[in-house]
Amino acid sequence: MCGIIGIVSITPFSVKGTLLKCLKRLEYRGYDSSGFVLVDGTASKAIGEISSIMSQVNDSLTSTTGIAHSRWATHGGVTDTNAHPHFNTSKTLFVVHNGILENFQDMKDKLVKKGYKFITQTDTEVIPHYFDDKLKQGNDITKAIQSFLKEAKGTFAILLMQKGSNILYAIKRDSPLVLGLAKDKFILASDIYAFSDETNKAIFFEDNEYAIITPDKYEFYDKNGKKTEKKIIEFEWTREDETKEHYKHYMIKEIKEQPQVSLRLINSFETIQNDKLNKLLELMKNTKRIVFIACGTSYHASLVGSILLNHLGIYTSCIIASEVESFIKFDKDTLCIAVSQSGETMDIVTEVKKAKQAGSKIASIVNVPYSTIQRMSDVSIEILAGQEVCVAATKSFTNQVIVMLELARRLGYKINLKHIPKKIQQTIAINEDKIKVISNELASKRDIFVLGKGMSYPMAREIALKFKEIDYIHAEGMMAGELKHGTIALIEEGVPVISLIPNNNEDMISASKEVEARGAHTIVISNIEGKGEIIVPKCDDAEFAIYAGIIGHLMSYYVGVVLGVSIDRPKNLAKCVSVR
Ligand code: M6R
Repeated sequence: MCGIIGIVSITPFSVKGTLLKCLKRLEYRGYDSSGFVLVDGTASKAIGEISSIMSQVNDSLTSTTGIAHSRWATHGGVTDTNAHPHFNTSKTLFVVHNGILENFQDMKDKLVKKGYKFITQTDTEVIPHYFDDKLKQGNDITKAIQSFLKEAKGTFAILLMQKGSNILYAIKRDSPLVLGLAKDKFILASDIYAFSDETNKAIFFEDNEYAIITPDKYEFYDKNGKKTEKKIIEFEWTREDETKEHYKHYMIKEIKEQPQVSLRLINSFETIQNDKLNKLLELMKNTKRIVFIACGTSYHASLVGSILLNHLGIYTSCIIASEVESFIKFDKDTLCIAVSQSGETMDIVTEVKKAKQAGSKIASIVNVPYSTIQRMSDVSIEILAGQEVCVAATKSFTNQVIVMLELARRLGYKINLKHIPKKIQQTIAINEDKIKVISNELASKRDIFVLGKGMSYPMAREIALKFKEIDYIHAEGMMAGELKHGTIALIEEGVPVISLIPNNNEDMISASKEVEARGAHTIVISNIEGKGEIIVPKCDDAEFAIYAGIIGHLMSYYVGVVLGVSIDRPKNLAKCVSVR
């Protein structure tokens, strides 16, 4: 996680209006603390959201070179001292870093023996001292970078700046890094969104590559110092209005955008994404084994896809990326389908790399174009959800599920996707007020259980995840059938149980009755008039998953409103989990 920015400019740029504005666009990557340093050594750090540091900066402050960082803490607590940038003792070398330096303790021990004093608990502080030491030994910075690439273990996107010099050094392994080519400046960033309002031209770093950026030119090198030729990509970004408009939170804005966002995706299936979908189907048909890998909410969407395809007789498995090695070994007969909103989740990136090395074909379903996972894929379907600012995935999840439905449709599943945007709109319009009332009651509960079966089981997990991440309420999403094998012991008077019951599913009705008999306060989500507290439009079980998911997202949102929590940026989280 963490977002990094570096700017080298021909003309002075506004620190607040450019450097921190770009950083703000990376805030979803971490918001424990932020900081920046300019080429003349002017620096500032603050705990909390980027707005804290913005309020400390004078509007008139400008610079020609600077680096900035938004932190998601890994090593060392959330303190001013641990906030980036980090520096050497004489404060002439400044560093921002995204990733984890795995052998930082070894490197630190060596430096401590040489007399270096450390003031933070971070792994990153090793870097400026390391370069200080190398320079003192008579190396130039490029030689020092090459040594660093040999010695350092772990993942990193690093920006290094020397006081008084309008040059940025950028080093990358595993963590994402991209150079934006704007009119009078170069912008280094963790992703293209950071500068997508400044330029649509970018160059992506490869692993173990470094670059030297001056105001008028850039040069890329491999780990041995050999110059590399780089391709300039002209990217397109699906833009939504990036403000909250009249909404109080991005989460509700993003939930309400779904009729338009889903329509854009569904239209793309017959147009700009048709060929890619056909290619993916070819890969699926010509492989012995299909494995979805994903994390969090994207895992829940993948699970819907996997269950749906299994129903069609196309056997697939769906594995949480961090546990892949417990279940399978990739080989050339496996198609790996990586599902990820950000396209940068490190648990997935790691497994995709392993799969590629083992000869597997790679397909991906991502939201962020040119993300690492997309660039590693043989074919990549985009969910076209536009920028999702809220840490909790909502519209991206719905569009991921719609891609699963489209794949199934092309493989013989009977469904008309064209109705979905309208039905999403109805789902929200008909139920929003009722959800507000229910959420008022849920807000005071310690535990919430969510039950599902078949394609609603992933939704039960998804809804429970949202109660946990947004509202900090313990919630369990489970297979209804498993309830009686233990968890039912926790059901007592007044415990809320949300039952997802599409099309009068008998097993689900029984499970719901069983908990009701033990005093649970059941809230039934159904698609049959008169059969539940919340009714979504008529549909089959697969489509029901979409509408039930939206109801769950709305409930967690309104519970959060009642509790007054930080809905868009829940504690301890980051939108893009780019560490393992
Ligand atoms: O970017 P990804 O889809 O790979 O992210 C995976 C999870 O980190 C993500 O879905 C997470 O669970 C969300 N915060 C859920 O709302």
